[in-house]
Amino acid sequence: MSDRPIGVFDSGLGGLTVVRELKRLLPNEDIVYFGDTGRVPYGTRSSQTIEQYAREDESFLLSKNVKMIIAACGTVSSVAPHTGDELPVPFLGVVGPAADAAAKATKNKKIGVIGTSATIASKAYEKALLQHDDSFQITAVDCPLFVPIVESGWIDRNDQVAIFTAKRYLEPMQQAGVDTLILGCTHYPLLSDIIGDIMGSGVTLISAGAAAAESAAHKLKQDNLLTDKSGSGKYDFYVTDRPDGFQKIASLFLQEDIGANVSQVAI
Ligand code: DGL
Repeated sequence: MSDRPIGVFDSGLGGLTVVRELKRLLPNEDIVYFGDTGRVPYGTRSSQTIEQYAREDESFLLSKNVKMIIAACGTVSSVAPHTGDELPVPFLGVVGPAADAAAKATKNKKIGVIGTSATIASKAYEKALLQHDDSFQITAVDCPLFVPIVESGWIDRNDQVAIFTAKRYLEPMQQAGVDTLILGCTHYPLLSDIIGDIMGSGVTLISAGAAAAESAAHKLKQDNLLTDKSGSGKYDFYVTDRPDGFQKIASLFLQEDIGANVSQVAI
C-alpha cells in the first residue's frame, strides 16, 4: 500500500483525459498533475527537444514524491518512451494501452490513428497495432491544429472552427472505412463529441488517455501500490504559464472547480 500521489504529465490540458478516468477508477488516490503550458505544443518539435522536455517533466514529478508516472501525452509516449526506463518508479505511456484497446475493438481490421505530427512520424501506434495482427490496415493522419483549438477552449460540440477542421482531417478516415479510431493525442478526446458526430456511431473512438488510466489502475493494483485511505483523493495541478485558462477549461472538463489547486511553477 502507498499513500503517495500518482504523477501525470502532459504538455498542457490533454493529460486531463487520464485524470478524469483515474478519478472514476481510483477516487481515493491523490494525483499530482503537471501541464507544461508554457511550452505547449510538443508535437511539432524535434525528437531531441521532446526527449529533453520529457526528462524535465519527469524530474518535476519525482520531486513531488509520486509513486508512478504516467506520460499522459501521445507525443512523449511515441517519441521518448525510453525516458521512463531510467526512473525509480513505474512509468506508463499511452501508446500500448490504446493499441491494445483498438485491437480488441476492431471488427473489420481497419483502424485509424490521429495524433500530433511527431507521433504520426514516429509510427509508434502502427508498430504497436501490427504486433497484435499484421493484417490490420492502418490509416494515420496528423492533426496539428487540434491542440491549439483545444488549448483555446474551442471544444463545444457546435464550435464551427473545430467542426470544419475536424471534417478536413477526418476525410481520409471515412474514405478508408475504419471502424475504430485511436485518438492518439490526449488532447483529442476533448473534441470527441465533434469527432464522434463526424465519424458516426459505427466507429469506435479509443481515447489513449482513458486506456492508459485503466492500465495504470491495473498496474498499481498488481504492484500493491494503491492507497488504503478512504475519502476523495486530493488533486494538485502545476502549470508553467498563467493558470487562468487552464483552470477554466480543466474545471469544465473535470466537472469540478479546481481553481484553487493550480499553481504556476518554473522547471
Ligand atoms: N497531448 C499531447 C499528446 O498527446 C501533446 C500535444 C502537443 O503538445 O502537441 O500528444
